[in-house]
This record gives sequence, C-alpha cells and structure tokens, in this order.
Amino acid sequence: MRKLLIYLKPQRKRIVCATLLMAISVLCNLALPTIMSSILDNGVYRSAVENTFPYTAKMCGVMLAVALVSLASVILGYRLTSRITTSFTRDLRSAIFHKVHTMTFEEMGKIGTGGLVTRSTHDAGTLAWVASMLSGNIFIIPLLFIGGVALCFSKDVTLSLIMLAMVPLVIVVVVLLGKKITPRWELSDKYCDRQNDIVRERIRGIRVIRAFNREPREHERIAEATHVMAENIIKANTTMALTVPMTTFVLHIAVLLIVLVGGIRIETGSDLTPGDVFAVIQYVELVLNALISASFAIIMFPHAKVAARRIGEVMDAEGTADLIPDEDIRFTGRIDFEDASFRYQGADQAALSHITLHINPGDKISVIGGTGSGKSTLVSLLLSFRQPTEGRVLFDGRDAKTISRKAIRRNISCALQKSMIYSGTVRENVQMGRMDASEEEIRQALDIAQLTDFISEQKDGIDYALEQSGTNLSGGQKQRLAIARCIIKDAPIYIFDDSFSALDFLTEAKLRTRLNSQFDGRTQIVITQRVTSAMNSDCIFVLDEGRLVGAGKHAELLKTCKIYREIFASQTGGGRK
Ligand SMILES: Nc1ncnc2c1ncn2[C@@H]1O[C@H](COP(=O)(O)OP(=O)(O)OP(=O)(O)O)[C@@H](O)[C@H]1O
Ligand SMILES: [Mg+2]
Repeated sequence: MRKLLIYLKPQRKRIVCATLLMAISVLCNLALPTIMSSILDNGVYRSAVENTFPYTAKMCGVMLAVALVSLASVILGYRLTSRITTSFTRDLRSAIFHKVHTMTFEEMGKIGTGGLVTRSTHDAGTLAWVASMLSGNIFIIPLLFIGGVALCFSKDVTLSLIMLAMVPLVIVVVVLLGKKITPRWELSDKYCDRQNDIVRERIRGIRVIRAFNREPREHERIAEATHVMAENIIKANTTMALTVPMTTFVLHIAVLLIVLVGGIRIETGSDLTPGDVFAVIQYVELVLNALISASFAIIMFPHAKVAARRIGEVMDAEGTADLIPDEDIRFTGRIDFEDASFRYQGADQAALSHITLHINPGDKISVIGGTGSGKSTLVSLLLSFRQPTEGRVLFDGRDAKTISRKAIRRNISCALQKSMIYSGTVRENVQMGRMDASEEEIRQALDIAQLTDFISEQKDGIDYALEQSGTNLSGGQKQRLAIARCIIKDAPIYIFDDSFSALDFLTEAKLRTRLNSQFDGRTQIVITQRVTSAMNSDCIFVLDEGRLVGAGKHAELLKTCKIYREIFASQTGGGRK
C-alpha cells in the first residue's frame, strides 16, 4: 500500500490545503453547539425575565457566519479532495498500464486479462478511497474526536463519562466486523476477475456463439459467474452495512442516557443548564460520528489492502525490464539458431527442440510445418518475446541475450499470425510501423500489400475508419493491412507469420513479387503451412513437432525430407512436382 501511495506525492500541496479546509470546517462545527447552548441559556430561557432579543439576534448572526464558513470550507475541501483522488487514480492507472507493458507473457497469463483489467479499473478505484481519506478526512477525525471530548468535559464531566463509556462498544463492533470482512473482500474480488474474464471472452467470441446458437447456454454461464460474484459482494457489503447502523444505535443509547441523566440532574438542582445538556448531546453526536467515520475507514481499509495487494502483484512483477543498454546497431540480416529449445511454462513437451539453423543476410527463407509444429514459437524467440530454455539465438554472431530487446525489435519487422488491427484509421494502423511515414510511403506500402483497390473504393481513402479489432475488414484485408504495417518499417529482417493464409493465390503471387523486388537484400522469413508459399524460397526449413526435420530448396526437400513430401502430397494430391 505504502509503495502505491507514492502516486499521492505530486498532490502534497493540495492535500495540505484540503486538510486545512477540512480542519476549519471541524473547528466551526465544534463551535456551533457552544454558541447554540449560549443562545438557549442566555437568550431564549432568560427572555421571560429580561429583553434578550439583541443578544439572541447577535449570536444568531455569529452562528450563521460560522455555519457559512464551515459550508464554504467543506465545499472547497471536497473539490480539492476530488481533484486529488482523480489525479491519483489517473497516475496509478497509467503506472499499472505501463507496468503491464513490461510484464512477461507468463506473468500476464498468471493474472489473466480480466484480472489486469479489474486491477487497473476497480482496484485502482478502491485505492482512490484511500487517497480521499488521506487528503484531509483521516486527519480531521482525531481533531473532531479530541475537540468534541474536550468541549464535552468543559460542559459536564458526568455526561462526558457516559459518552466515553460508549467508545469501547463502538470499537468492539468495528473490530469484530473488520475481522469478518477481509476474506469476503478477497473472495468477491477474485470472482469479479473471473466474471470479467468470462464476459470479455464471450463478447469477443459473440460471432461463434451466434453461429452455433449457443446464446442460451452462454447466457447461463455468464449469469452463473455473475451470480457467484454478486453473492460474494452481497456478503461483503452486508457485513459492511452493519457498521453504520450498529454504531448509530450506540449513539442513540448514549443520547438517551445523557437526556435521562441530564434531566434528573437539572431537576435535582445541580448547576447543569438545559443549554449544557443540548451542547453535550451535540458534542456526543460529533464525537460518535467521528468514531463512525473512523470505523468506516477501518472497515474499508481491508478492502483497500486487498486492492493494494492485487495491484502490487502487477507492480512487483519482475517483468522483462531490458537490463542491457540500448545500442544503435543495424543487423546485416544473418540469423543463427544454435541448438535452441523452448518449453512453455507448465507444458509437458518442448515446443521447439534442439533447433540449429543458419540464415544468411538477404536470404528469402520459409518455415513450413503443420499446425502446432512450433513456427510461431520460433518467431517469439526471434523477437525476444521469449528466451530459449536451452541453446542460443544469434544475430550477426551475437547472442540475442546480449542485445537489448529494443535494438532487436528495431531490426525486425513482423506481421504476426493474429493480424491485430486497432480502432482508428487505415493510416494510423500503417503508421504504427513507422510513425514518421509520409502519405506517399503509406500509399506505397498499401499498394505493395495489394490494398490499393480497397482503399480507392473508400470515400475517406487511407483515412477509412476502422472499428475495434478491425471488425469492418475481411480476414484477408486485415492480413494485408498488417503486411502494410510490417513493410513500412525499414528493417534488415522481415517476418511474415502465416500472413498470406487468407489471400487467394493470385493476390499472394502479386504481393510476393512486389515484396521480393522491393526488399531485395533484406532477410525475409515466411512462415507458412502452404507449399506454394514456400517453394520458391532460397531455403525451406521444415518443422515437425518442434523439431527441424529438413532444410533446403524445394526440389532437394522433395527427395530428402519425408515430412515435406507428405505436406506437398497432401496439398497437391501427390501428382505435381
Ligand atoms: N502460450 C502458450 N502456452 C503453452 N503452450 C503453447 C503456447 N503457445 C503455443 N503453445 C504450444 O506450443 C506448440 C507450438 O505452437 P506454435 O504456436 O508455435 O505452433 P505453430 O506452428 O505456429 O502452429 P500454427 O500453424 O497453428 O500457427 C503447440 O503445441 C502449442 O500448443
Ligand atoms: Mg503459428
């Protein structure tokens, strides 16, 4: 929690001002009962024996002025508090988002997408409450309590002792409820993550659900998750909701006793006045209200602690911090895998085993293999998304582990298998490849990617608006847009992971011809399952169940590699060579 509160540091000045304003309001509130008591004793009750109207009117004026000062300071204080909490959550959310960018895929997988979303929204919101408490509220509680008790004693000791007797009762109630509530918050937050995950996944996959008429079943599943989440939130909130009524009940008992004892003492002729009893009741309300606020804070604190721990899981993730200093290097395009293996965390088998291969600068190579053979994993190793569990990946003879990830990724441009398109325009999506690309360069990249016809059909041209995840594009259009984004970047190595699978043969042929002429001299790695996409490469690497089972040109592989022959036969009916 303390670590997260550093995001309050820039708000120091505002916190001091808010606390001062709140303190002014508390002092005013403490003054009001005394003024009121004086109006009652010296004005109202004595009006029968002398003309006290001028005094009463004057004191009413003072009371109004004090009330107005209190009102103004509360309004200003709350405005400041609201600014403080919003700025705090803004900074905290931005820090969480930043951190997520540096997390390893394993760390992200452990928390889950839903968990990451709830941590930066719901949990950050819960911590906003802590920020609001710290920006004034928490400091005025002791002031209200001590001031109230002191003023109460100044009026009457016996009545004050009645009030003090109630304090331990409030503390017991709060401690008991506080103990119960922490595990409930933990559970309700866990189920909130789960519900978030399920809803997110079902909304993303709504097309499949509709296509298979699975709406009722999926609706049931979401309702089930929401029900479990709601049950847990209800339990937590019910425990919490008990705090205020129970402490208020104690307050009422206190008032009752004070009226009773105060009444008896006035009757029996002590020097206690009705105004004093009135003032004491007001102070008891103030003091016990301070206690109720404190108990509310104590009850809320476990929830904030849970939220802080959950956010801490993100912030404390080791992440993939690039410990190697960035270098302004440009690779020639030579790549070597030296006995490289990789196993996903928790997987029984290695996704890549003992891969040794060499790619020369400017080579146009292909990696072919059935589904799950490890092709995309190979791309992950190249991009340093993952590190080989054994062996090495080398660029220009240098171990990738000794080169900063930034430098590696600057030297590789990649169209990943899942063509991620972001909401925005075609232009913005292409510019992700190179921010300073001119309009002419964007148009050229789109032309090479065979998107010119599509763009010219759009009224807005390259400013055609794309919906989230590019849902208003076809699969092939998304792939081609991802290719345009990849080729606009100037890099010595280009990787296309299954980037032509949704293109018809003619479009692919045109695109590949343009790529080859435009990027002659650059290393091109085409990952594919189609022999037709691979057959003209300088070298084809054949993967099977994570092992490299063949390397060479098309004709060679047909003679030497059984797996390649099988793939070829399955795609051509075995006849054509
Ligand atoms: N994040 C992951 N966690 C655990 N296992 C994974 C993960 N990603 C892939 N795998 C496993 O690693 C193996 C290789 O996967 P990979 O994605 O590299 O295959 P691929 O050759 O690219 O397949 P495709 O042609 O279908 O894209 C598969 O058995 C897969 O189940
Ligand atoms: Mg793949």
